[in-house]
Amino acid sequence: MTITTCIFDAYGTLFDVAAAARRAASEPGREAFAKVWTKVANDWRLKQLQYTWLRAIMDAHTDFWTVTQNGLDYALEASDLSDDAELRERLLALYWELEAYEEVPQMLTDLKSAGLNTAILSNGSPDMLNGAVKSAGLTTVLDDVLSVEDVGIFKPDPSVYQMVCDRFSCKPGEVMFVSSNGWDAAGASKFGFQTAWVNRSGEPQDRLPWVPKATLKTLHNIPDLAKTLG
Ligand code: LAC
Repeated sequence: MTITTCIFDAYGTLFDVAAAARRAASEPGREAFAKVWTKVANDWRLKQLQYTWLRAIMDAHTDFWTVTQNGLDYALEASDLSDDAELRERLLALYWELEAYEEVPQMLTDLKSAGLNTAILSNGSPDMLNGAVKSAGLTTVLDDVLSVEDVGIFKPDPSVYQMVCDRFSCKPGEVMFVSSNGWDAAGASKFGFQTAWVNRSGEPQDRLPWVPKATLKTLHNIPDLAKTLG
């Protein structure tokens, strides 16, 4: 089925989630943090995601900003940095203006020029997503920013992916869904989307039955892939 609609995960896919910790680590006076920033960034992301899955399973939804803070608090304690309230505030502030990967603006512009629908579908709460989209200058190349807050449960619950079909009046098979998260690509494949997994760091593929249609190193070839999938 011809692709009409290209949908992107936000955190880790369009926006570099490690950018907040990397930037804070480079700032003066943060020598102790600079030694452990990669561990903090990894623990932060892992716990943030675990809390989304646990809350979905436990039918105890909260918004992504809350689990982002909860994950950071866990990560800071794991690296003996719980006392550094200023660092906590700085990391959280930076999360609202994460850098987009360098190829993102041109890639989205090319998709729009080809007449495709473009949108984000993310766990992020609407205000977080709007902050990131605005700070990365992506407002004009996205038709919409869809947040799980409209259905009140995190990915990979199928009701999240259904939001795309409702918004764009399309069938799952017309959608190319792009995510750097293997588990998200699996959830989207199971739903019926044609998925592209962006595997920047050479991670192993998740051992789940729903595999991506394509695996890419970066987002550069997404407009070409949209023409050839189907
Ligand atoms: C998102 C997370 C999963 O943006 O990265 O939905």
